[in-house]
Amino acid sequence: MKNSIGKKLFIGIAFFALIIVSLSWLLNTKYLEDYYLDKKKDSLFEYAQDIQRDYKGNIDSIDERIANIENSIGGSITIIDENGSEIYSSVFTQGRGGRGRWSVGGISLLTNEGIRRVLNGETTLESYIHPRFNTMSFLLASPLTNGHILIMEAPVSSIKESVEIAKSFHIYIGIISLLIGTILAFIFSKIFTKPIVELNNVAKSMSKLDFSKKYIVKNNDEIDQLGKTINYLSDKLDTSITELNMANKKLKADIEKERQLEKLRKEFISSVSHELKTPIALIQGYSEGLKDSVIEDEEDKNFYCDVIIDEANKMDKLVKDLLNLSQLESGYYQLQKESFNIYDLVKNIIDKFHPILNEKNISLKVNSDNKKLKICGDLSRIEQVLVNFINNAINHVDDRKTIKINIKDHAQKVKVEIINTGEIISGDEIDKIWDSFYKVDKSRAREYGGTGLGLSIVKEILKLHNSSFGVVNVDGGVKFWFEMDKVC
Ligand SMILES: Nc1ncnc2c1ncn2[C@@H]1O[C@H](COP(=O)(O)OP(=O)(O)OP(=O)(O)O)[C@@H](O)[C@H]1O
Ligand SMILES: [Mg+2]
Repeated sequence: MKNSIGKKLFIGIAFFALIIVSLSWLLNTKYLEDYYLDKKKDSLFEYAQDIQRDYKGNIDSIDERIANIENSIGGSITIIDENGSEIYSSVFTQGRGGRGRWSVGGISLLTNEGIRRVLNGETTLESYIHPRFNTMSFLLASPLTNGHILIMEAPVSSIKESVEIAKSFHIYIGIISLLIGTILAFIFSKIFTKPIVELNNVAKSMSKLDFSKKYIVKNNDEIDQLGKTINYLSDKLDTSITELNMANKKLKADIEKERQLEKLRKEFISSVSHELKTPIALIQGYSEGLKDSVIEDEEDKNFYCDVIIDEANKMDKLVKDLLNLSQLESGYYQLQKESFNIYDLVKNIIDKFHPILNEKNISLKVNSDNKKLKICGDLSRIEQVLVNFINNAINHVDDRKTIKINIKDHAQKVKVEIINTGEIISGDEIDKIWDSFYKVDKSRAREYGGTGLGLSIVKEILKLHNSSFGVVNVDGGVKFWFEMDKVC
């Protein structure tokens, strides 16, 4: 509770209770007695007025009334005539005679000043201390009709006693009130500060960017309304910070993507320039040679021209491949899908390759589970895929000179495999061969006029078809494969 509102509230309420109790005790001790005595005097005056009004010189008519008043004041009433003789006295009827002061009708107890005032027609009230019992009494004397005098005597010792009792009782009441007040102050301060402590906990969590804690609204008082506002603030902050984080992540991803694109662009330009450098240099050199006419021999001239044509063709292939690739990568390329017989397509392609296969003495065998298998795809693009794979197989086949094409029926799909005997592709490179311009053996690629774009084009076409594809090293060679849907 150190320095808390709860502590302040508790001390405040307890202090307040202490002040109230002390004040009440002080007022009691100081003024209770005076208040009682004043009240007593007032009532004596009132009774005297009553008797004055009702007394017409005949005691019998107000006999009962006087007895009642005596009862109320707890004292006695005497009426004397102008000679001092008693007309009425309760003293004798109550059998309390014998006391000197009563024998003179009580009037002798008055001071001279009192006697003078009564005889002057004024009502007078005096107090006197009983000489024997040391008790105090009020003595009221009031003139009545016929020169009769009313004397009322009321002891006040009983009042003093009551006041004393009340005072001591008040100490107990004070202690008990203070005790109960302190306990209530403690409970009240706890009840009052509990929601504030809860609010503080919610705010603390919020400061640590934890927005899961919420204030539980109970009865919609001012603190609960503050709680509602804090809950609202927490929700708002939560969404804003989440959105900000997402935007930040997206921005980072965009920057990273941009950086990657920039890197790819630079790589691409350097690769293209690199691919073009050799043919341009060769064309430049050989055409200058022709122009300088250093060569007289017709055969040499033809050779020069062949080199120039050959290099120009390579550049033409490179440009066509690049255009092809950029079309496929654009994201807008539309496949013309149709259902066609895959075995027939493979056979057609192989027919076109016959001359070169014969020339290189390569055996190419096709195995199909079912010669009637149909697949769904863009015919010319799938032809491009097969041509690329077969071209690569021809370019990389070893002395065993064997190429196999398998067409396999796989339930919903058809799997096509192109296997050639030859060197396997090492683990580091097997993933990279699908990248643009990537060639495992650069000088060998140059021999067969490869630019390293073939497999990138294949990859883009198969991705557009949502096909699975890959390459694995097999016993004594490599196997490229891809899968196609049977139905469109
Ligand atoms: N059947 C294969 N056997 C061994 N290596 C292969 C085979 N097919 C491709 N590769 C390797 O993958 C590389 C990339 O092949 P890709 O078809 O993309 O390019 P390329 O054949 O060299 O040139 P391009 O196809 O553009 O004329 C090749 O350079 C070669 O190193
Ligand atoms: Mg190739």
